[in-house]
Amino acid sequence: MKNKSLISINDYTKEDYIKILNLAEEFEKNPTQDILKGKVIATLFFEPSTRTRLSFESAINRLGGRVIGFTDATSSSVSKGETLNDTIKTVANYCDLIVMRHPLEGSAKYASEVSSVPVINAGDGANQHPTQTLLDLYSIRKTQKTLDNLNLFLVGDLKYGRTVHSLLMAMSHFNTTFNFISPVELKMPNEYKIYLDNLGLKYYEHTDFTDIISRADVVYMTRVQRERFSDPMEYEKTKNTYILNNSMLVNTKPNMKILHPLPRVNEINVNVDENEKAYYFTQALNGVYTRQAILASILGLK
Ligand code: CP
Repeated sequence: MKNKSLISINDYTKEDYIKILNLAEEFEKNPTQDILKGKVIATLFFEPSTRTRLSFESAINRLGGRVIGFTDATSSSVSKGETLNDTIKTVANYCDLIVMRHPLEGSAKYASEVSSVPVINAGDGANQHPTQTLLDLYSIRKTQKTLDNLNLFLVGDLKYGRTVHSLLMAMSHFNTTFNFISPVELKMPNEYKIYLDNLGLKYYEHTDFTDIISRADVVYMTRVQRERFSDPMEYEKTKNTYILNNSMLVNTKPNMKILHPLPRVNEINVNVDENEKAYYFTQALNGVYTRQAILASILGLK
């Protein structure tokens, strides 16, 4: 992991995941330290973000590092026509590591190829969101006490949702049974189903989950990704397909937990927030410890 970019969740092995999760546990016990003193991290967000950017920046600040960057490409020279190549080569001169979110699939990989410092992919289009996945694994292990043999429900926009794509790949190491619940227009892309087929893992596709939610260990809700639709009518048709409410949780397993990468739009009723099975705000908090572990591992800091 040291000095290596993190672009896809498959850049890390199962053993790497466990190392990160164990280190994140240590940071949870002691999140304020000085190990990033003297380090400068650039956060380049070409797309909006609340949790990813701010939990990275919180993680860096709590470890004594400094942050530079932009939250909106229009405030950078990209608005004057500067290329991603030139932006990354320039920013790499100013920092020890770059965290980047960009709307184009493959942009993070490209950035890592032209950068002289490691790059962390904070989301590239509908492709991957590996640091979200590591915090999701942390949240699943913390609540279920294991990552093995779980029944995982992925619900919502499985076509454009990058978090479910990365999570599927990571959980494929743990003998997971996958249930994909989506409108037909937003099904899990074939490439991910072939990926599971090749590993001999089971998955089931559904358009409704009211009758089967009692089997779930983890229900991972996702927002319909409006920004990825070329046809606004398609978004309008699918946006309110699933709205999780308390009555749907009555016969669920005692230790079942509801995760959501957030932001939420309408897919979880706010009344569910008070339910003991709702875990999504703590999941977002876990992002700080997990990202501290990722930064420390890449920068080779003890
Ligand atoms: N989960 C996530 O990526 O949230 P943000 O878009 O707010 O960063």
